Amino acid sequence: MFYQTEYLKSLQEPEKFWQEQANKIDWYRPADAVLSKDENDLYRWFKGAMCNTAYLALDYHVENGRADQVALFYDSPVTQIKEQYSYREMRDKVALIAGGLKAQGVKKGDTVIIYMPMIPEALMSMLACARLGAIHSVVFGGFAPHELAIRIDDAKPKVLITASSGIEVDRIIPYKPMVDKAMDLANYKPEKVIIYQRKLGALVPSKDYDIDFEEMISRAESVGCTPVEATDPLYILYTSGTTGKPKGVLRDNGGHAVALRYSMEYIYGIKPGDVYWAASDIGWVVGHSYIVYAPLLTGATTVLFEGKPIRTPDASTFWRVISDYKVKVMFTAPTAIRAIRKEDPNGDFIKQYDLSSLQFQFLAGERCDVDTLTWLQEQLEIPVIDHWWQTESGWPMLSNFPGTELLKAKPGSVSKAVPGYDLRILGEDGSELAAGEEGYVALKLPLPPGCLPSLWNNVDGFKSSYLEKFPNYYFSGDGGFKDEEGFTYITGRVDDIINVAGHRLSTVEMEEVVAAHPAVAECAVVGANDSLKGQIPLALIVSHQHDKTNQEIIEEIIAAVRTEIGAIAALKKVHFVSRLPKTRSGKILRKLLRAIVNGEELKIPSTIDDPAIVSEIKEVVHPSLKQTNNL
Ligand code: COA
Ligand code: AMP
Repeated sequence: MFYQTEYLKSLQEPEKFWQEQANKIDWYRPADAVLSKDENDLYRWFKGAMCNTAYLALDYHVENGRADQVALFYDSPVTQIKEQYSYREMRDKVALIAGGLKAQGVKKGDTVIIYMPMIPEALMSMLACARLGAIHSVVFGGFAPHELAIRIDDAKPKVLITASSGIEVDRIIPYKPMVDKAMDLANYKPEKVIIYQRKLGALVPSKDYDIDFEEMISRAESVGCTPVEATDPLYILYTSGTTGKPKGVLRDNGGHAVALRYSMEYIYGIKPGDVYWAASDIGWVVGHSYIVYAPLLTGATTVLFEGKPIRTPDASTFWRVISDYKVKVMFTAPTAIRAIRKEDPNGDFIKQYDLSSLQFQFLAGERCDVDTLTWLQEQLEIPVIDHWWQTESGWPMLSNFPGTELLKAKPGSVSKAVPGYDLRILGEDGSELAAGEEGYVALKLPLPPGCLPSLWNNVDGFKSSYLEKFPNYYFSGDGGFKDEEGFTYITGRVDDIINVAGHRLSTVEMEEVVAAHPAVAECAVVGANDSLKGQIPLALIVSHQHDKTNQEIIEEIIAAVRTEIGAIAALKKVHFVSRLPKTRSGKILRKLLRAIVNGEELKIPSTIDDPAIVSEIKEVVHPSLKQTNNL
């Protein structure tokens, strides 16, 4: 009943509800208006309030009895390094990094790109930007220079912070040459590149824009926290959209702090002093919200893990970390669990560790199959909770609530709407659908605090991408349905976004790279179901006359996607077909294509120009997918 009361309260009296949550935050100045609209007719939370997110995440706890509590455990199986930082140590180092950035001219409102591996200095750099009121934009290390350059051109950072290298299992990934390439490719040039030297491999010749991170802070003076408006941006996080260009999701300071703090208490059941671990990467929203900001805003301890669920060194690594740091709640992607299960189907590693600290296991980032969820639940003997959200929301939209009231579990469902989210299933015409009917997952405006107020420098794009399909609603891009009791089931994206190993990628972006190959006349990239990664990209190409072998062309296309987008795009399947399924007016039938590739039943539209192509694609694609899925 608690959930029901809380949920209704959040929708009936949103301003009162969120003001009560805001009262738990140490503002410099309270809001003039809890909820208002800005000059672009967009909702804003806590207008007029002043705060500083780095203060709330660090200084506040130092001043309120948590100075010596561990704020961060860093565990890096790939370098065999383990470190820990107390709240005081974190605050002091962040204040110095902020001082170093200030000396480089970074000030309130400036943007800073952070392209770093999973090291403490990455988190600290994010917090140092927040301390100055500067806006960080973290770019995931698996993206190629071209992608980094696109983000540089859009965010126009004053400086870029990077590290000499990252490590992928046993392979050193030199970041600095990629940054230099991105600096060449970008039209906009950041003034300086600040490099944290990890001393892991050969030194790369320095450029005249280079600054050594350690040297910068050795000369720096600590700086305090700059008060910012609650509505000022804290960060920009680029995410794949349905065009070739990523979208700069904007996050504000005040609403974000209020929402994340609430989520820790209400959803995850985390109190100050507890240990929380999100096994993600700081380049994704999960990393922003639940490695960096939410645990620290709560006065909890966070874990930064530089490794993989398997191969660093084996499938026991997650359980070792939980037991070493007495993790109370853990969050990861279903792919990680599928990878572990493949290596350790009987859970022999799990039995070797004392996991008594672990109370709840959360999963998100992609659809979780019931089989994986059930397996994990049986192994851990604790509630395993699949919850749903996205970069845009910044925190869960559908979840169970073990922090306050554990609802019954319905396998396959991501449970119920989180307080603050008025979630509806709409039909094509915008009318609300009845229980059991599948439609578009949309949220009635206003969205609660913490969700994106807009896109960076792109109000029109924000409105057209999210608000115009259904007036007065935010459209999530996902399809789904509710049952009679309001439990929601997410059936997947209804657009051209795919989720590969919990990583969100745009098929349109991949198509642009594939189409640029001289032998390609036309192409389509679709998501194919995969038993490990959930989905993998698959390209179908129709070729021009060419003088290379098909295999050569396939290899060149795979290499081009890796060079242009990054290894993370993981396009490994490219198939030649004689033509693509199209309507008589020449439009590619994408929905049909997805269904053919995934062997789903779908009525062949009467508008198709040539029905024979359906069986040709099946014959080309299915044997190859069966092979990778071990079917
Ligand atoms: N920097 C550079 N390259 C990176 C990278 C990074 N930060 N992250 C991944 N890559 C590379 C990988 O090395 C791999 O390259 P390869 O094709 O040469 O082997 C490629 O990008 C694909 O990476 P990934 O999807 O991680 O696949 P994998 O085969 O290396 O690992 C899993 C498989 C299942 C272990 C891994 O996908 C995984 O841990 N998934 C869970 C993801 C997750 O937690 N997501 C959370 C989002 S909420
Ligand atoms: P991202 O913005 O990278 O977090 O990706 C968000 C998208 O991932 C959502 O729009 C969904 O399509 C998908 N997603 C995230 N969590 C889940 C989940 N629990 N179940 C199904 N899909 C999910």
